Amino acid sequence: MSEQHAITMTAPPEVYRQRRAKLAAALERPVVIFAGHAPARNYPANTHHFRAGSSYRYFGGPPLENAALLIEPGSDGDAGCTLLRRPPGADDALWFGEVPTDNDIAAAAGLRREGLADTDKLEALLAGRAAATVAPPFPDTLAWIAKLGLPPANDDELRAIINLRLTKDEHELAAMRRSSGICIEAHRAAMAATKPGKREADVAAAFMAVLHRHECQVAFNPIITVHGEVLHGQGHPNIMPDGALLLCDAGVEEPGGYACDFTRTFPVSGKWTPIQRHLYEITLRAANEATAACVPAARYRDVHDLSARVICEGLVEAELLRGDPAELVARTAHALFYPHGVGHLVGLDAHDMEDFGDLAGYAPGRARRPEFGNKYLRLDRDLEPGMCVTIEPGIYLVPAIWASDELVKPLADVVNRPKVDALLKDSFGGIRIEHTICVRPAETGGPEILSETLPTDPDEVAACVGTG
Ligand code: GLY
Ligand code: MN
Ligand code: MN
Repeated sequence: MSEQHAITMTAPPEVYRQRRAKLAAALERPVVIFAGHAPARNYPANTHHFRAGSSYRYFGGPPLENAALLIEPGSDGDAGCTLLRRPPGADDALWFGEVPTDNDIAAAAGLRREGLADTDKLEALLAGRAAATVAPPFPDTLAWIAKLGLPPANDDELRAIINLRLTKDEHELAAMRRSSGICIEAHRAAMAATKPGKREADVAAAFMAVLHRHECQVAFNPIITVHGEVLHGQGHPNIMPDGALLLCDAGVEEPGGYACDFTRTFPVSGKWTPIQRHLYEITLRAANEATAACVPAARYRDVHDLSARVICEGLVEAELLRGDPAELVARTAHALFYPHGVGHLVGLDAHDMEDFGDLAGYAPGRARRPEFGNKYLRLDRDLEPGMCVTIEPGIYLVPAIWASDELVKPLADVVNRPKVDALLKDSFGGIRIEHTICVRPAETGGPEILSETLPTDPDEVAACVGTG
């Protein structure tokens, strides 16, 4: 097979067989896990990038559009598993060159050659039996499922998938280390490309060039902005003024689909103002303490609350809040400056398994707290070795928050409003520092920080800026 059509897989075939066998042992009816397709632009053959669904990839599906894995209850991971794929069309070689053979596909997936079938055989294979479905939300795939009349997987079936995907094995971790290494290179290129008077788009271009060189994709649309107070800001339209902070939240997905998610914030000029540096150091303390707290059996919600307390301690020191930090957290005063959760699962997606909603992020019996800020926490599980999560506290001056009587009035007694207003007037923006980490027992060194060699020390960060 030519390089051009090599099948990228993350794990050896027997690992996929084992994963399927484990899922099959938890099933009471067949499950069909769909790859999805590349959405078309203006005509079917002119498509956006194809990215196969994460559960399909996890259970050994090679990256083939409109393919699906059928897993029967009690299967050993090979017999009782079928990979449905569109057989090559007569014109494929003309338009696309050499395509993978069935032998290549079966070998990559860890299936016998007889385990492959044409997609239009799915109905006959099910023979009228009920089967659960798991699919990425693409219109053609959903239309196919609707035509087959198959229901979505129920919570028990999804939990069986989630329980397998929650902790990463050595193959998954190796892939995440690969995406992290490229992400570090790309973030360094972004820092080097940052200079007053240049555009955010110049920085985004420097980041993307590294990804293109490594044939990687973005894990989400990069947030590269002097308006860091817009938590998920899109587009890069601004010229970067001297004196501003640039927030760069950008992750890489390697060809096997594994992601990382890193944020750095730095002064556009390479020189911190005293208040920028002070609030940055508070954020860094929160990131470091929260990261160190990610040990097996720790409750992630407690890690969030710890980060909120460190932020409140710092905001009291900085004379933006007053009072006892623990009481400030209890009143969710931190959320005026830190209105989001400390992080989320990361793996085959930047927000791993968020397609399953809080079923993945929240342990059974746990639910989101209702208060502003805390309600955006995406994860509340007890951490286990091999779980990969982000730690991403921040401090922001968000005009929309300070314009809201509903949010501000109940906390007016603990806020230094003139100082807040001065920062808003100066368009302070926002600071976030984000690591992707893998939880490990203390005996084996504590959390592995996949973003560790991307500087966070304020002097080291500043020294990286504008060197390109
Ligand atoms: N950029 C999305 C996140 O950090 O969660
Ligand atoms: Mn991020
Ligand atoms: Mn994140």
